[in-house]
Amino acid sequence: DEVRNRRVDPFNVVQQEVEVVSERLRLSVTTGIPALKTAAEYFFRRGIEGKRLRPTLALLMASALSPAAPSPQYLQVDTRPPNEHTPELRRRQQRLAEITELIHVASLLHDDVIDDAQTRRGVVSLNTNVGNKVAILAGDFLLARASVSLAALKNTTIVELMSQVLEHLVSGEIMQMTATTEQLLDLEHYLAKTYCKTASLMANSARSIAVLADSSDEVCDMAWSYGRHLGIAFQVVDDLLDLTGSSSVLGKPALNDMRSGLATAPVLFAAEEQPALRPLILRRFKHEGDVALAMSMVEATQGLRRAEELAASHAKAAADMIRCLPAAQSDHAEIAREALIQITHKVLTRKK
Ligand code: FPP
Ligand code: MG
Ligand code: MG
Repeated sequence: DEVRNRRVDPFNVVQQEVEVVSERLRLSVTTGIPALKTAAEYFFRRGIEGKRLRPTLALLMASALSPAAPSPQYLQVDTRPPNEHTPELRRRQQRLAEITELIHVASLLHDDVIDDAQTRRGVVSLNTNVGNKVAILAGDFLLARASVSLAALKNTTIVELMSQVLEHLVSGEIMQMTATTEQLLDLEHYLAKTYCKTASLMANSARSIAVLADSSDEVCDMAWSYGRHLGIAFQVVDDLLDLTGSSSVLGKPALNDMRSGLATAPVLFAAEEQPALRPLILRRFKHEGDVALAMSMVEATQGLRRAEELAASHAKAAADMIRCLPAAQSDHAEIAREALIQITHKVLTRKK
């Protein structure tokens, strides 16, 4: 009952601790080189930190597997340098949450260069501000800081897991860029790319949290699977929002995927019903009027609905993973699990 009474916004459950992680990120991305400092700090500034979904997931997973709530000392900012080893489990898991966010932001900096994006999170993109060269180097710098921090955890399993994420991010991006005609129409290819681009970071971050907690292989697998399913659901919803959302709400241009030549899940489902869409997908919507034409074709099919169902089925699979974990050892763990399940619902209804 107590657990039910405290059923609140899942982001509130670890909000204070996410704030601690954000503050430490702000302190730790500084450097003595002014131009690099300004660039590296860009998306960690207060107010444009985004939803901080990844640190939230990491800390909720830490709590879900924990025998007790973290003691109040862990809600203070850890001021030790990132290259200094820390023995306390909760601090180690906080560091993993930081590393996850560093990798995420680095990938966004590089992505905005590749996509020639003008805006991100409702502000001017870093590449627009400082140019591609400095933006790329700022991303590299964040990856370097993430690597040092990861090494300082002195756990080779998580070094391996998080390094694989970097490989996946790069592979996903290249898969998207170089898809063959056959692959462009193939939902399996889309899903493999989506795992690499979006789900791998969430999956392997969740798994690393479980590894740090010395969880059984089975629990580590379940943490990974939760992140994978949630990540895929998240990306499919992202694809839907790109087609149905407005740019002012999204903080980035709408219909951007088709404009940049990408056919996402709703469009692929639509093409199964409406073969006339296929040539547009294959020429990456580059003829005059293709985007508008494709959009009207998509709307005349079940494409949007089928993509919603795909997202919902992955969200449900993610929630089921949490329900199947071995019994929670504390109220705190129970509440965190409830929050992880609520996030699977929130992902489906988000507007940005
Ligand atoms: C956003 O996708 C981009 C990603 C999720 C990953 C991008 C990965 C790279 C650029 C490879 C380099 C990786 C590292 C680790 C530096 P999007 O363009 O579909 O979405 P958007 O609308 O948010 O821009
Ligand atoms: Mg992009
Ligand atoms: Mg991109």
